[in-house]
Amino acid sequence: MQEQEYYTLYNGVKIPKIGFGTYKVTDDTAESVLCTALLAGYRHIDTARMYGNETQVGNAIRTAGIDRKDLFLTTKVWRSALSYDDAMRSIEASLQDLQTDYLDLCLLHWPMPEVDRDAWAEKVISAWHAMEKLYEQKVLRAIGVSNFLPHHLMPLMVAANITPMVDQLEFHPGYTQSYAVSYCQSQGLLVEAWSPLGRTKALDDPFLLELAQKYGKTPAQICLRFALEQHILPLPKSSSLQRMQENLDIFDFSLTPEEVSRLMTAPQGQWSGHHPDTF
Ligand code: A2P
Repeated sequence: MQEQEYYTLYNGVKIPKIGFGTYKVTDDTAESVLCTALLAGYRHIDTARMYGNETQVGNAIRTAGIDRKDLFLTTKVWRSALSYDDAMRSIEASLQDLQTDYLDLCLLHWPMPEVDRDAWAEKVISAWHAMEKLYEQKVLRAIGVSNFLPHHLMPLMVAANITPMVDQLEFHPGYTQSYAVSYCQSQGLLVEAWSPLGRTKALDDPFLLELAQKYGKTPAQICLRFALEQHILPLPKSSSLQRMQENLDIFDFSLTPEEVSRLMTAPQGQWSGHHPDTF
């Protein structure tokens, strides 16, 4: 099995440099997909209360017999729970479903609530204080956000007693969010990439194919390596053992600065369509 490599969060917590994304891993195959991912060597699993698969994730970990301390487990608080009490309840339910008494990382999933959107900042800050409380109690080893742009992070950074350690953003060739990534990194947050393969839309780009040929890798591996070159943590998902393994095999080559620059500055627009201000 591939040796794990780690990033270190500003609080000293080590996080495996690649994680397994579980969005839409929900039907009755979810548990076996997750067992396969653990078998393939993933030790960092990214789920969310909203994905509706925390029970299957918990079952898969138990079935696979992985020692809890060898696993990095992330979940997220959905935007319907943006208050102190609701966030507390959400995390309690996540812990129960995941069958664990702590989380390695917990994120606020989106900055904007579905209703009462003008009050988003107060709501976020209230939920954040619940996360801080559980962090102090060592129920959460690290806390962060997801889909927060700089203007969502700014009021949170002012009000927070503990600033976020992570921001999980959509990131892949064709949608690199350079401004948000630079802001996060300048503030000491680790950026994680959701949809690092651009839901496969990015994979037939001619420049990616050229790089794949040059390095003897696949376009998917080039996308994932591209995230690493930017000090970003990719969270690919796959339902096949072969592609899961392929996606882990990205630590034996690197892209040149010129190649990274071409990928960072390629025309933007291949995005999911979910903007944090309007979603
Ligand atoms: P599959 O489950 O059949 O492997 P993203 O993580 O960017 O949202 O992309 C997820 C999609 O990428 C899934 O449809 C998944 O399909 C596909 N995928 C995952 N890994 C690879 C790979 N190495 N090569 C091609 N497609 C991949």
